[in-house]
Amino acid sequence: MNRVGTFAAAASGLVLLTACQPAATSSAQAQADTDPHVVAATDIAAGRYIVLVGGCNDCHTPAYAQTGGAQPPESEWLKGSIEGFTGPWGTSYAKNLRLTVAGMTEDQWVETLATGTGLPPMPWPSVKAMSDADKRAVYRYIKSLPGDAGEVAPAALPPGVAPSGPSVKMG
Ligand code: HEC
Repeated sequence: MNRVGTFAAAASGLVLLTACQPAATSSAQAQADTDPHVVAATDIAAGRYIVLVGGCNDCHTPAYAQTGGAQPPESEWLKGSIEGFTGPWGTSYAKNLRLTVAGMTEDQWVETLATGTGLPPMPWPSVKAMSDADKRAVYRYIKSLPGDAGEVAPAALPPGVAPSGPSVKMG
């Protein structure tokens, strides 16, 4: 088939496909395609890149920031931290994101990042600003991580309660 023929066949396939989609889905899809998002060989590779440049390991992987990212192997990434962050909000702990993704669907993850109202210093405004495609890529990447899922991070403490373990004082 020549180029024009190929294009015509592809275009008619597109028309058919579009005709089968409900209007709401195609406009949501169109928006997802035009929102800025990371392009990589796979969604998982895109998610890995976003986690790396987004600094998620700095808090969610023990010893990552302190060692310049050199020490912890990927099998240890994003397992959460027992080192707290103490400020006017009390003490928060970077959660084990492997357990978080294990306990929610991809859509729930997108919703969590879009509406995130948790404690500092989690950079909620930054993850809110991520496009849906990037949020989904991060979910898929975390799901793909090698190694066991690790332990649940300690529960947050209210203001005035002294943490029993290590904690960084903020603000
Ligand atoms: C400066 C430290 C810090 C950085 C950087 C950080 N986080 Fe967090 N994150 C936290 C803390 C602390 C919490 C717990 C907040 C709370 O208890 O409400 C948290 C909680 C979360 C939660 C909620 C998990 C749950 O089970 O409720 C998600 C999801 C999350 N982080 C994703 C990310 C992603 C994705 C990145 C990278 C783009 C990131 N975080 C970077 C500190 C951080």
